[in-house]
Amino acid sequence: MLRLIVAGLCLLQLILLAAGQSRCSSVRSRQEIRQLSSQQRIDLYNAVKQLNSGPRPTEWDRLSNTHIRFNHGIHEHPVFLPWHRHFLVDLERKLRRINPNIVLPYWDSSLDADNPAGSVIFSASNSWLGGQGTCVRDGAFANFTTYYTDNGPREHCMYRRFDQGSSISPFYRPSINRRIIQEQTTYNGFREALEFGPHGVVHNGIGGDMMDMCAPNDLLFYLHHAFMDKLWNDWQRTRDNLRKYDMAGTSNPRAVSLRDRLPTYNIAVSATLDIRTDYCYDYAPSPQGAASKTTPHPQVQYMSEEYIARMGYDKDAVRRIESYLHRMVDDDN
Ligand SMILES: *[C@@H]1O[C@H](CO)[C@@H](O)[C@H](O)[C@H]1NC(C)=O
Repeated sequence: MLRLIVAGLCLLQLILLAAGQSRCSSVRSRQEIRQLSSQQRIDLYNAVKQLNSGPRPTEWDRLSNTHIRFNHGIHEHPVFLPWHRHFLVDLERKLRRINPNIVLPYWDSSLDADNPAGSVIFSASNSWLGGQGTCVRDGAFANFTTYYTDNGPREHCMYRRFDQGSSISPFYRPSINRRIIQEQTTYNGFREALEFGPHGVVHNGIGGDMMDMCAPNDLLFYLHHAFMDKLWNDWQRTRDNLRKYDMAGTSNPRAVSLRDRLPTYNIAVSATLDIRTDYCYDYAPSPQGAASKTTPHPQVQYMSEEYIARMGYDKDAVRRIESYLHRMVDDDN
């Protein structure tokens, strides 16, 4: 009897897979945050504030705590990209219950590579995310209070501490992201280059909550990871989609497979690989103009020992990826 039920469920799954697109009545478009109107941005921030209202821990706090609890299971590991993809959808669904018009945007940090602290995203107006401080005092999230830290619950102001005092070390430009996508032909090679490169420098450079496992205290975390998710989707669609179902790799010492289940969510990795049919969203192109920069690519810093330690990363692996990326930066010049 049980076998019959299992067989039936498998068949159902096959039918659903075959039906593909039909599970989504429409596909929503995630835009780069600069492409939204200021009202759309403010609607997003208001929904976030609503998620963070009520007694502690709020829904917003609990998302952050989920990220803290799974810490080492979801970083420096092949499941890094599928897990974070699903985590973003978890937030997006909660926001859309509050306001169905909301679609999570992404922050293309590579557009701000040369001078990240000068990015419009850190502007003080109520339609942007404000600057730095032990308590961020301007922008839409001025005095935004959060709950979890990496050392347990402690109510505190969301905070940022730029790595260069008043500025942030340069990020990787779009040209570097394009090269990673071209050159990394295996999933895990791509995942590692992304995680230790464009992903890490942004967390490390902004500092504060963003440098900890409680980074989801700051909405910037989600906007940044949506961009990482977009780059993964770009990678998956390169070479006629042949890479779409590539999610191989090992995690000491176990091989990772598409049948693995995401920590927390208990969803098979195979059900996270197609953003259009599994989750009903897609990414609008980034507004990066065709113009290529004529100035040299600024030097990108090595990630700090502090950040590497907090993430529990293997330092040699990080430095190996950084040398590979820094050679690309040199080539660019
Ligand atoms: C944030 O809190 C400080 C200190 O309580 C206060 O002076 C300031 O007006 C608050 N800012 C906003 C935007 O609420």
